Amino acid sequence: MRIALLPGDGIGPEVTTAAARVLRELPLELELEEHPFGGAAIHATGDPLPRETLAACKAADAVLMGAVGAPEFDRSEVRPEQGLIRLRGELDVYANLRPALGDGVDLLVVRELVGGLYYGERGVREDGTVYDTMEYRPEQVERIARRGFEIARGRRRHVTSVDKANILDTSRLWREVVERVAADYADVELEHMLVDNCGLQLVLAPGRFDVILTENTFGDILSDVAAGVTGGLGLAASASLGDERPGIFEPVHGSAPDIAGKGIANPAAMLRSAALMLAYGLGEPGEAAEAARLEAAVDVALETTPPSDLGGSATTSEFTDAVIASL
Ligand code: NAD
Ligand code: IPM
Ligand code: MN
Repeated sequence: MRIALLPGDGIGPEVTTAAARVLRELPLELELEEHPFGGAAIHATGDPLPRETLAACKAADAVLMGAVGAPEFDRSEVRPEQGLIRLRGELDVYANLRPALGDGVDLLVVRELVGGLYYGERGVREDGTVYDTMEYRPEQVERIARRGFEIARGRRRHVTSVDKANILDTSRLWREVVERVAADYADVELEHMLVDNCGLQLVLAPGRFDVILTENTFGDILSDVAAGVTGGLGLAASASLGDERPGIFEPVHGSAPDIAGKGIANPAAMLRSAALMLAYGLGEPGEAAEAARLEAAVDVALETTPPSDLGGSATTSEFTDAVIASL
């Protein structure tokens, strides 16, 4: 299995180093090849997603990514994050799965990933007005809705579809299509919730959710909230899947410039993303078993050797040592 490894920026390389160390311990034939991406790639080539990197990702069985972004690019025309948006679009990974697990909480955000505001027309008018537009085609909503309902069937059979249908026409389309799809999944319960209330319910009663199905921007925000109420960004993993391989596997967190270079980033989110890659992205039975073993080893290390974001003192490499020891 060929894995394109994209370390990226900030703590990205720190947590991908941890993932590479752990993956090499597993009794699997994994070929890990690193490629420049994000700010590092802008410095090297002027492009956050160099042609060679894109080609390598397309040819790989899975893409394992750290994070991109750095304050030095805040005012630049070309920014690291643009590479990530392009890569997601090129691989058409429309389903972003973001699990959040905690005390009495087991929810999954199913976020549409290649549409909406991130991919709409944008520009500047002569009078200085700047605009971003949000568009959804019915087929785009339908495929993510189907994915959400399919996944709910393997869970507690409950879907909360989140939108802003009291205001936005895209949300009215979203609701209409989700209801049409729901008719094919009579065994799954569907509720609709407005996005502002969903933010509140996630804070007050996160245990009430099973699958949260939502569009790109809402899913971005709500998945950070879900992470926040279940232990923080140091723990939150994600899988971005299309209809074919490769998927992209990356933590929910970013490049964390405030702690980058200190060696203290919690690599659990990255290691759990690697486990999701083994479970969903490669999909051979031997790999699924190793995914479960890796998840269990991360849980053990979180108990015995917690990093500083969880109130402990373990460095990134000490935590990684603990995972390897547990494996
Ligand atoms: P962030 O997720 O990088 O950090 C938010 C807070 O969480 C910070 O205090 C950080 O120290 C903490 N944190 C995050 N991950 C952690 C970890 N593994 N261990 C311990 N603490 C952790 O969000 P931000 O600061 O808003 O964004 C920084 C940069 O990252 C921006 O350039 C943004 O665009 C980018 N970003 C990239 C991705 C991605 O590549 N997928 C995701 C989110 C943000
Ligand atoms: C995430 C990030 C990205 C997003 C950014 C960096 C483009 O915040 O993966 O959650 O908004 O999708
Ligand atoms: Mn985000």
